[in-house]
Amino acid sequence: MMVVGMDDDLAVLRRARMRWNTPLSVAHADVLLDRLHLDAGAQVVDLGSGWGELLMRAAERTHGVRGLGVDTDPVALERGRLLARERGLAERIELVQADVSTWSGTAERALCIGSSHAFGGTRAALEALASLVPSGGRALFGDGFWQASPKPAAVEIFGDQILTLPELVDSSRSAGWRVLHLSTADQREWDEFESSSRAGWQEWLLANGSDPRAGEVGEWLDTRERQYIQDYRGVLGFAYLVLAH
Ligand SMILES: C[S@@+](CC[C@H](N)C(=O)[O-])C[C@H]1O[C@@H](n2cnc3c(N)ncnc32)[C@H](O)[C@@H]1O
Repeated sequence: MMVVGMDDDLAVLRRARMRWNTPLSVAHADVLLDRLHLDAGAQVVDLGSGWGELLMRAAERTHGVRGLGVDTDPVALERGRLLARERGLAERIELVQADVSTWSGTAERALCIGSSHAFGGTRAALEALASLVPSGGRALFGDGFWQASPKPAAVEIFGDQILTLPELVDSSRSAGWRVLHLSTADQREWDEFESSSRAGWQEWLLANGSDPRAGEVGEWLDTRERQYIQDYRGVLGFAYLVLAH
């Protein structure tokens, strides 16, 4: 298991090549933000925001949108704060280090992408979003689903709580949402996501083969690459739902 500390240069490099931490093209993100229908001055909360790239794009495309990102990862949050300053968004984007389950505010728009586990799973996340977005508001929910029957190795990696797509839609309805939009990540988005999730360390390894951490980093990269190609490529899907109530 990796022994890289949070203040380590490797922790910063780990996701440095990712635009965001989800399988999503820029064109696809634009469609999702369109469907979210952001009004000027809207408050957007991003639960499990990572470094908040999508939140910042929401603020950039609509004048006056204010964004709050909540995440537990200090490295991601620091990256996001730096990006917000560079893009002139520091006044409108706030990134706070906290467990999403402790956030008790409300917001007209909510983002929750790849973070349902932080609420205890898909159903719990959909219910939590329904309670924090007032009636008339919308949420963008991104979550994994089984696109094909998983082999035991895939279940071992992702657990046995992943739903199928029909179950995901049913769960949204059960939590009181109407599904305004549904789209799934395509294979190219997945391949780009997976490759970029390893690229930061791949580049480091190529340049630092004699570093004492090189063996461990190389092993980690090879395992991740093998798991993706052998165990879940084309099996784990990722869906984006724009929800309203
Ligand atoms: C797959 S990433 C997605 C990040 C971001 N939504 C994006 O699309 O780039 C999941 C995020 O959830 C965060 N996370 C996990 N558990 C959390 C918790 N209990 N409270 C807040 N954030 C959490 C992780 O730190 C990580 O940044």
